[in-house]
Amino acid sequence: MARDLIILAYSGGLDTSCILKWLIQKNYDVVCYMADIGQDEDFEKARQKAKLIGAKDVIVEDLREEFVTNYMLPAIQMGLVYESRYYLGTALARPCISVGIVKAAKKLGAKYISHGATGKGNDQVRFELSVYSLWPEGKVIAPWRIPEFFDRFQGRSYLIEYAKKENIPVAATTKAPWSIDENIMHISYESGVLEDPGAIPPSGIYKMTRDLQQVDDYPSIIDITFERGLPVSAQIPSGHQKALVVTDPLVLVETLNKLGGQHGVGRIDIVENRFLGLKSRGLYETPAGTILHVAHLDLEVYALDKEVLRIKKYLQDKMADFVYNGFWFSPEAFYTRKCLEMSQESVTGTVTVQVFKGNVSILARKSGASLYNKDLVSMDIAGGFSPEDSTGFININAVRLKEYARYTAATQITK
Ligand code: ARG
Repeated sequence: MARDLIILAYSGGLDTSCILKWLIQKNYDVVCYMADIGQDEDFEKARQKAKLIGAKDVIVEDLREEFVTNYMLPAIQMGLVYESRYYLGTALARPCISVGIVKAAKKLGAKYISHGATGKGNDQVRFELSVYSLWPEGKVIAPWRIPEFFDRFQGRSYLIEYAKKENIPVAATTKAPWSIDENIMHISYESGVLEDPGAIPPSGIYKMTRDLQQVDDYPSIIDITFERGLPVSAQIPSGHQKALVVTDPLVLVETLNKLGGQHGVGRIDIVENRFLGLKSRGLYETPAGTILHVAHLDLEVYALDKEVLRIKKYLQDKMADFVYNGFWFSPEAFYTRKCLEMSQESVTGTVTVQVFKGNVSILARKSGASLYNKDLVSMDIAGGFSPEDSTGFININAVRLKEYARYTAATQITK
């Protein structure tokens, strides 16, 4: 009988290498799928390793452009920030990788998709909800949730022992005592020695950004241009030469990552609420994402109608939850995204930012589409505004406050 085919989301690391072998021993044919989303990885080495273990084939796909264009930059446009701090670098990458792996599964006529995400995390949820949305007939095998697997491999030492027995190469370098998830938008660090939220992380963790003790002593000034809320170019003055202008989305993100990293921009250390109900402590560095979010927010408040801005704020918080929880491909996310995109019609213009010593500060903004009216707000001319109208405005607003003051005085309610 022909063996069923599984496409395994493969990273080249110890976990997915052992999963690969285990699936083969369970009598499946396994094709490994590796998405390049900008992580620091030797794909050729990983390919050879998977082949050596027994993978039928290894697919390496460059999804960097796809990730930046269809996930990261739209997230900036929508203003997606989870629990007021996390820019969702990992959450955004999962649906992007899922599209790639589902395409491969359909093309090869696979029956299953498998992954090495653990049973306590968000990524299993994001990954599988995306897979089921894109491929309702698809089936998922998650070894870290199968008792036969997790009972056998109760810790890293068990995996290493199995790897040695099965001739799976184990990296000579000792693994960092925390878990890393890396792509072109961010790097996240959690677990291991980071699990105690009260403990200051050991130094030397961060890979994309410099420590503030090591940053440049002079600022960088960048002009960032948005069209309908999407970043389309960055202009960076480069000393005496002509300014560097970048427009390619991938190059734009890479350039801002480099500059932001050099100035120590975009680090956070937070405790967040996972979808499954647990709290977890994580460290993140998102240099380009931070610069773009700060610039975008400035332009948005400048351009948008006040009430639209408030409704948009509510919707962007909802959308951030959808994305965090793995519902990128869902009716609620499609609907909310359309609304958010609609709000961005006037968010076109250029913001000048300064990055320096870990900060992104706004220096100026320009937009032909803003509702800003210099004459109307000017201290020097009337500009069509009648100051005496403000008296009535204040009086009417004070009606309720005066009534409340009388009421509390009469009833002795303490304020
Ligand atoms: N907590 C982050 C999220 O849920 C990151 C998860 C993966 N990161 C990791 N270091 N394993 O989006």
